[in-house]
Amino acid sequence: MTLALPFAPRRVVIGANAHAELAAWLRARRPELEVRGAPVPSISADDLAWGEVYVGFRRPQTPTLGNIRWVHCTGAGVDAWMAPVEISREVLLTRTPESFGPAIAEWALSRALCFRLEVMSLAQAQAAREWKAREIPMLAGTKVLAVGTGDVGSAVARAFRGLGCEVTGVSRTGRTNEPAFRAVYPVAALPHLVGEADWIVLTLPSTPATYHLFSRDILSRCRGAVLLNAGRGAVVEESALPEALDAGWLSGAALDVFEVEPLPTTSPLWNHPRVMISPHASGPTTTDGAGLGFLECLGDLEAGRLPSRWVVDRERGY
Ligand code: GLV
Repeated sequence: MTLALPFAPRRVVIGANAHAELAAWLRARRPELEVRGAPVPSISADDLAWGEVYVGFRRPQTPTLGNIRWVHCTGAGVDAWMAPVEISREVLLTRTPESFGPAIAEWALSRALCFRLEVMSLAQAQAAREWKAREIPMLAGTKVLAVGTGDVGSAVARAFRGLGCEVTGVSRTGRTNEPAFRAVYPVAALPHLVGEADWIVLTLPSTPATYHLFSRDILSRCRGAVLLNAGRGAVVEESALPEALDAGWLSGAALDVFEVEPLPTTSPLWNHPRVMISPHASGPTTTDGAGLGFLECLGDLEAGRLPSRWVVDRERGY
């Protein structure tokens, strides 16, 4: 990365459906910024020839990034900028400081509670006016394996821990500072750990190292866990999920992300009775979060320093 610091870009291109909101938010706080925006498919080569910094989650469909010298990704996962072809390393790539942990923790907890407290089956019984007496178990006392222990995985761990679950973590390094984890292990321990878990919560980015980490082999070692994936679809060998559910390796799945998005209408996951699908919505980017995150990084660059915490490590992919 060869950006000369301080770097005070003034021409900002926003690629997002909510571009108008974010543009207004930025103009209100930094009137000297010139901001253009459009939904990603409408971002043109002319926009990118004009702009100095691009703000958005998805990559424009233009052949090049024109004169853009800094890409600020408004999502946690930057895979759109790393694959199929990584953007030039001459371009600074930062990811947003916005925290998606609280929203994804709610997403995961709500799904686990639905499964454990039989919410879907109660709704079906209600629709049929059936008074089906039953004992409803609690989430407390069950075991969670959180694969990914970063900002999002730690928020997930705190949420489940708060309801009395035992939470074990798995991370690249096998370490964490988050006290909600009972213990954290490196990825190599996964084959031994998945058989112990009631809930497996994935919050991993898509990188070459995480591709199909949850392979058919790992899935076959689960002993009835519910798999919750809020990271990236490519982390799971999706074609093996129907078998994993039907064989009882998994007792259910809550999926927010898929190998191909939108999930094709032909996917058998849509109408599997033990699968809950949401449309990549567990950790929404907000205008405030995106705006503040961008201004934090911009402020660092203007002051002559790199926003080191948010500069994407091109080798790791996040
Ligand atoms: C959403 O998927 C994100 O990476 O923020």
